[in-house]
Amino acid sequence: VPLAARTLRHFVALEGLAREEITSLLDRAESFREVASGEARPLDLLRGRFIANLFLEDSTRTRSSVTLAAKRLGADVLDLMSAGTSRSKGETLLDTCRNLEAMGVDAFVLRTSESGEPQRLAARIATPVVNAGDGRHEHPTQGLLDLMTLREHLGELEGRTIAIVGDVLNSRVARSAMHGLTTLGADVRLIGPPALVPEEFEEIAAGPGRIGVGHDFDGALPSVDAVMMLRVQFERAAGDAIDSLEEYRQRYSLTRARAAMMKPGAPVLHPGPMNRGLEIDSAVADDPQRSLILRQVRNGVAVRMAVLATLLGA
Ligand code: CP
Repeated sequence: VPLAARTLRHFVALEGLAREEITSLLDRAESFREVASGEARPLDLLRGRFIANLFLEDSTRTRSSVTLAAKRLGADVLDLMSAGTSRSKGETLLDTCRNLEAMGVDAFVLRTSESGEPQRLAARIATPVVNAGDGRHEHPTQGLLDLMTLREHLGELEGRTIAIVGDVLNSRVARSAMHGLTTLGADVRLIGPPALVPEEFEEIAAGPGRIGVGHDFDGALPSVDAVMMLRVQFERAAGDAIDSLEEYRQRYSLTRARAAMMKPGAPVLHPGPMNRGLEIDSAVADDPQRSLILRQVRNGVAVRMAVLATLLGA
């Protein structure tokens, strides 16, 4: 089946999606913008449908925005976390989902610290699975909201160069962004300490955009069209790869002085949560002239509406 004609059954990764599939989801998200932000009335597209949020790892933005997205499409949401379910008695994720499926749940939104778990689940059940972030692998709805935000600000992304800076090794956000951006024809520059930005990442995506690895943030800043900063993921042992936090800050923090080296109007993104004062200074994160961080969060509701409506055939 040609990629552009496929029906998306699950949404577990941006890797492997065709350009047309990504742009169609982005266009649909843009059509939901006013409803997503609460400026227009909620829709009835998913009235009577049930979405189960299964967040086995903490989340503020993704979990809240999936809930808002589902409700603004008229759906109901079951909110399940690890604590308080029979997973604490040893029930497998597959058994949990099969039981919820038997009760008539229409889609699962799964966050897990284990890379690959949403794909494994999607291979074994018919109910649509949305990956809300799996370990170090992918966070495809975050990838879509990053693309939507960049597209709003820069226009078409083909031929643009986006820097992704910091703890790339541990970042599912970076992997989804790499696949999404290069599929849309943008080039990606990965920047950070060698231990957190391995050379192999140059080969990770299929193109047509290309990925380059570098370690000189100051040298790259004047030539890129946008900068996406990444959180240093101490919970995934990123600290072990950093000898000195002060040295990391000296070389890779987006400070006000570094932001001044960027092209005029070039925007700054960060998926959140931020380590303020480490990978990004508050003066940049809160700068309304450059920072798109809250715009990313706002767009997160619209892209999750687009994904849910598309998977559920609405
Ligand atoms: N960006 C993101 O995934 O944030 P949460 O962990 O708060 O969902």
